[in-house]
Amino acid sequence: MLTITEKIIKAHLVEGEMHRGEPIAIHIDQTLTQDATGTMAYLQLEAMGVDQVKTELSISYVDHNTLQSGFENADDHKYLQTVAMKHGVKFSKPGNGICHQVHLERFAKPGKTLLGSDSHTPTAGGIGALAIGAGGLDVACAMAGRAFHLTMPKVVNIILHGSLQRGVSSKDIILKVLQLLSVKGGVGKVIEYSGDGVKNLSIPQRATITNMGAELGATTSVFPSDEITYEFLKKQHREEDYVELKADEGAVYDETYEIDLDTLEPMIAMPHSPDNVLPISEVLGMKVDQVAIGSCTNSSYRDMMTVANILKGKTVDPEVSLVISPGSRQVLNMLASNGGLSTMITAGARILETTCGPCIGMGQSPITNALSLRTFNRNFYGRSGTLSAKVCLVSPETAAASAIAGYIIDPRVLEFDIPEDPEYFTIDDSMIIEPDMELSAETEVVRGPNIKPLPINTPLKNTITKKVMIKVDDNITTDHIAPAGAKVLPYRSNIEKISEFIFMNVKASFHDDCIANDGGFIVAGSNYGQGSSREHAALAPMYLGIKAVIAKSFARIHRANLINFGIIPFTFVNEKDYNDIDEMDTLKITDLLDIKENTPITVQNVTKGKTFQVEHNLTQLDIDTIKAGGTLNLIRQNQK
Ligand code: F3S
Repeated sequence: MLTITEKIIKAHLVEGEMHRGEPIAIHIDQTLTQDATGTMAYLQLEAMGVDQVKTELSISYVDHNTLQSGFENADDHKYLQTVAMKHGVKFSKPGNGICHQVHLERFAKPGKTLLGSDSHTPTAGGIGALAIGAGGLDVACAMAGRAFHLTMPKVVNIILHGSLQRGVSSKDIILKVLQLLSVKGGVGKVIEYSGDGVKNLSIPQRATITNMGAELGATTSVFPSDEITYEFLKKQHREEDYVELKADEGAVYDETYEIDLDTLEPMIAMPHSPDNVLPISEVLGMKVDQVAIGSCTNSSYRDMMTVANILKGKTVDPEVSLVISPGSRQVLNMLASNGGLSTMITAGARILETTCGPCIGMGQSPITNALSLRTFNRNFYGRSGTLSAKVCLVSPETAAASAIAGYIIDPRVLEFDIPEDPEYFTIDDSMIIEPDMELSAETEVVRGPNIKPLPINTPLKNTITKKVMIKVDDNITTDHIAPAGAKVLPYRSNIEKISEFIFMNVKASFHDDCIANDGGFIVAGSNYGQGSSREHAALAPMYLGIKAVIAKSFARIHRANLINFGIIPFTFVNEKDYNDIDEMDTLKITDLLDIKENTPITVQNVTKGKTFQVEHNLTQLDIDTIKAGGTLNLIRQNQK
């Protein structure tokens, strides 16, 4: 009796046994990258000496850094396009859409494994794929034909009953789940949905839910593949990709929750965490300055038509800036043909490119002290680009209704038509460049001045005596570590330059302190590194000489990224020891080359004259990786 998760893992298992919490490795069918993480992933693929990718499908999307206010982003795009052609990877041009939306429409398949260098890769779980976010180096390894290593997850069952009322959306379902489980509640788990309510949710609605499973810290989230999945694939002219997928009767889950869709009300995540969730009824009437609709969470045809139907015949409040980014060229084109776009423009919306845009801080930073309602998935401090702004996460229904009112309202009070999916979606893949074996041989990879060589770590030393460069609290995000935004993102392929921005909003002197002290340690609270998959949050600290992070606990992808770049992720045996360490204390760790599985290590706080114990929970492969100074070094060692 197997869950959907176990069925897909079983079909892809290459190492280990399917025992919860044990290390396993699975074969990866598909990979995706986006430009902000992709340049590193392809530099890493090149460093592995791989000629053609070994996956069924690999695709490189450009959706994050599409502003071209300098040569940097354009250089990155050219590099990505040519390196894709060289190595057998499809290339989705800027303007074709947000990676997860396009992937759902055109490539994601039920029952397949997908590894993406973006934490919201689980979006494809809406169609029944086992879709996991990872660092670029893990994705490069998968493209090279290597298995993906993970811990056999626990499986959580969320049973959905009934159907949503008008004005309540699948975003409200996932916000409810976040309220129940918190941003740490999914760690080490796959969230699997079932129940009679599933058949009342379209594929994009399911994808909104699996997309924000990333905010639970979950390995991924997955829906069954059923007749709704078939219909969606048929409307995308790819019914041949359909397979049925459901859990066996009597499958065993580690935890079970139930949500009644009939009585669910609109929800809102308040600043600055996606799990700071309240029912909308508790915040009605709050004045709104900005409304931003889009992102990989809520930018499907259905979301956009819902917004258009709410805006029809209305005008955006004069005090509100409403920005809308449709998720893909397919969505934008269909809105342009059916009049939805004109409705939005007439209502006073500002229409943005089909990219991540404001979600990654690329433009549209709100006014000082703003209340910004966003349909996105993250509202971390500073991510909007305006540090004083309060960003709240809501459904497209709540966002559009509040943009008209000028303050937060409950969309259930409005009359509007619930959109139907079209008979067929408009298919035009002409902005996807297919790899071509003949052209591949002739293709020269173009490296503009923004494409810098990959920094490589040195092997681990037996004794490390260094200072604590920074001490941070709980729930530090990758946005705290490696900020996004238009000033920083253009340097995603230039680690030396991007290292200047590490922790810039937390401790401005971090970069200079690391340079002056030749690196050191990071000390952190729990859930360190939550948020995006960006490996720059590990790679740039490695470049600055960070040797270990000692935390109360780690977010999954960031911990894997630290190991990939040879930084040791230690956890406190006794969390109280966190309190006894101060910034700039000198710590000494000895006998690191004898590090063994399941064996704690003693750390000396030289400044305080004390010792404390840390553990690491590293597998033998992780230990070998760290000793070598990271995955690339280990691969090279093994190739010799
Ligand atoms: Fe892009 Fe934001 Fe999603 S940055 S991939 S739209 S989380």
